[in-house]
Amino acid sequence: MRVPTFAMERWQSHHEHRVSYNLSESGVQPFTLAELLELTGLEPRAMPLGYPQTNGSDELRAAVAAMYDGAGPENVLVTAGSAEANLVTLLRLLEPGDRVVLLVPTYGQTPGLARGLGAELVTFELEEKLGWQPQAGAAEAAISEGTRLVVITNPANPTGSVLRREAMDEILAACERAGAWLLADEVYIGAEAEGSETPSFWGRYERTLVTGSLSKAYGLPGLRLGWLVGPASAMEDLWAWKDYTTISPSAASDALATSVLEPGIRRRVLSRTRGIIVRNRSIVEDWLGSCELAGPWVRPRAGAIGFIPYRSGINSSELAERLRVESSVLVVPGDHFGLDGYLRIGFGDDPAELKDALVRIGDTLEAEAAQAVS
Ligand SMILES: Cc1ncc(COP(=O)(O)O)c(C=O)c1O
Repeated sequence: MRVPTFAMERWQSHHEHRVSYNLSESGVQPFTLAELLELTGLEPRAMPLGYPQTNGSDELRAAVAAMYDGAGPENVLVTAGSAEANLVTLLRLLEPGDRVVLLVPTYGQTPGLARGLGAELVTFELEEKLGWQPQAGAAEAAISEGTRLVVITNPANPTGSVLRREAMDEILAACERAGAWLLADEVYIGAEAEGSETPSFWGRYERTLVTGSLSKAYGLPGLRLGWLVGPASAMEDLWAWKDYTTISPSAASDALATSVLEPGIRRRVLSRTRGIIVRNRSIVEDWLGSCELAGPWVRPRAGAIGFIPYRSGINSSELAERLRVESSVLVVPGDHFGLDGYLRIGFGDDPAELKDALVRIGDTLEAEAAQAVS
């Protein structure tokens, strides 16, 4: 199997720890281990570091299941981030020639893997003019009879948009008509800037698999702890793939995650995330108000990411490279999502650094515009 280059992850892997301002990250400022131990009251020296139960401890699977109506531990597989949950899903479901329908723009993992596995890709779109929603009827037209798998990321990356209820209903009805599996990547649930949590696709259609993790809404990407929730009858097969990928979660991550998902602690963690997102999103909006060459954006509703159009002839990958080399600012070019003319800005980290980095982006856009005129 040969997979196409996952451009965004390659870009981040090479550069994110080597710039002064990393705006390529889509989560919020991560917890330190000391903060996490203080919050959970766990004693790290007492943690056994053997292999835990390989599909996740019973306690952790019960804690994950409690977030999904009607689910039990038998519906849960604990994974190394949602990345592994998405991976085992595609490995299990796809054969060469299978039709996969994706809602785009989206995170590049599932399209890249599906291509690598020899699937035929069909897309339908989130449209900026509709506030990054799909047009009514688009899902129905794309999800035809015989479709094997439909992949929806909700809330979405890179747009931070959340599907309207009617769009979810249309997707579910189309999957049911086609007999397709639905993979809902819901890793940004819990990172909403306002209002209640985004409803999960879970529980409304039998062939639904939902993925999530502690990486975005919980500020704990370094634990590499995620999950897959699905029908009990499918879980044994999906777990069997994990024997070939990572075998089990890290024992320390399993124990920490079990504690973080305890309802009282979870509420505190998510409220910290919301505070960061609301504060920093308004920093970006102040900057957009003063920068003539960027925006307006469709205000992101979840996640610490926004997809920002800019007005300059420069290609987004060239612009991102110029920002990296000349200003030590790392952003993700729209090119990595198949949409040139945009930058994905991650705004979840330190507010003072965010302000400095945005000034640098504005200066580079102005310098570009001046060069283009002269
Ligand atoms: C939509 C989406 N899915 C999955 C992932 C992988 O995240 P993790 O494996 O840390 O849960 C990301 C990371 O950016 C993402 O944006």
